[in-house]
Amino acid sequence: MEPILQLRGVNKSFGAVQALRNVDFEVYAGEVVGLVGDNGAGKSTLIKIVAGVYSADSGNYLIDGRRVSVSRPQDANHLGIETVYQDLALCDNLDVVSNLFLGREETVNNLPFMSSNEMERRTIEVLHQLDVKIRSVRAPVATLSGGQRQSIAVAKTILRNARMVILDEPTAALGVAQTKQVLNLIKRLRSQGLGVVVISHNLADVFEVVDRVIVMRLGRRVASFDIKSTTTEQVVAAITGAEFSDNADSRGGGVGPATTPSDDGSGNGNAQGHQHEQGKRGA
Ligand SMILES: Nc1ncnc2c1ncn2[C@@H]1O[C@H](COP(=O)(O)OP(=O)(O)OP(=O)(O)O)[C@@H](O)[C@H]1O
Ligand SMILES: [Mg+2]
Repeated sequence: MEPILQLRGVNKSFGAVQALRNVDFEVYAGEVVGLVGDNGAGKSTLIKIVAGVYSADSGNYLIDGRRVSVSRPQDANHLGIETVYQDLALCDNLDVVSNLFLGREETVNNLPFMSSNEMERRTIEVLHQLDVKIRSVRAPVATLSGGQRQSIAVAKTILRNARMVILDEPTAALGVAQTKQVLNLIKRLRSQGLGVVVISHNLADVFEVVDRVIVMRLGRRVASFDIKSTTTEQVVAAITGAEFSDNADSRGGGVGPATTPSDDGSGNGNAQGHQHEQGKRGA
């Protein structure tokens, strides 16, 4: 099975700062990937390359195993890659329906082809599909909870036929109940066969919802763990750069997509990839 998205050997510098060093990244359909790492590890830079906000200095971008060129956010959107940033980009004064259809391509002079009733019907349908409960789709989004607002931003990506959704710190500003809502929403996306990437500093959330966690440190991908066979301590060790035991390394490989080797067989970024990268750094 090919990943939906695959980056290979991506490098990115900002002046003298090398933000990404030879990074591989892959997301499979029906998989939730956690992207973790300390401040400045390169998570946002990586995601912005996936989203077409930045272009990589070198490396390949593949969709369904085929190389593509992504140099603008629209390129990524056309390939089904959607990103929900922390600011959510919603218009507070507009209602849920208007927010969902705002800025869509099926418009002329920003007026949608669809009738208001049709948009409302689609809105209710997509919210139902995602199991999102909202009092009224005609309520201004300013009146919604943080979790509901996050859900609206995600619903918008579904309306745009996303195959893969990237969420940047989706629970950072949320209370317990709202966090649970958003984690359920993520599981819902997975069950519908989407690939989901969650950037998070909250390891409890990561362990609750992801299938695999990719760890970045100092611009490198240092590990990929199958979550079922991984402990918080192992993930923390990878984030901070503490050595982990051989046992931990082999268990980190796990089964399923986490162990799928990259085509060139080098630095596939699973637990073995971790050792590989360590070796290279020392060279
Ligand atoms: N636009 C930019 N110009 C210059 N340097 C940048 C830019 N964006 C990121 N960097 C640098 O690249 C490195 C990686 O930053 P990045 O924002 O990707 O980290 P991060 O893992 O998202 O961190 P955080 O958890 O704090 O959000 C850092 O050293 C950062 O200072
Ligand atoms: Mg960041």
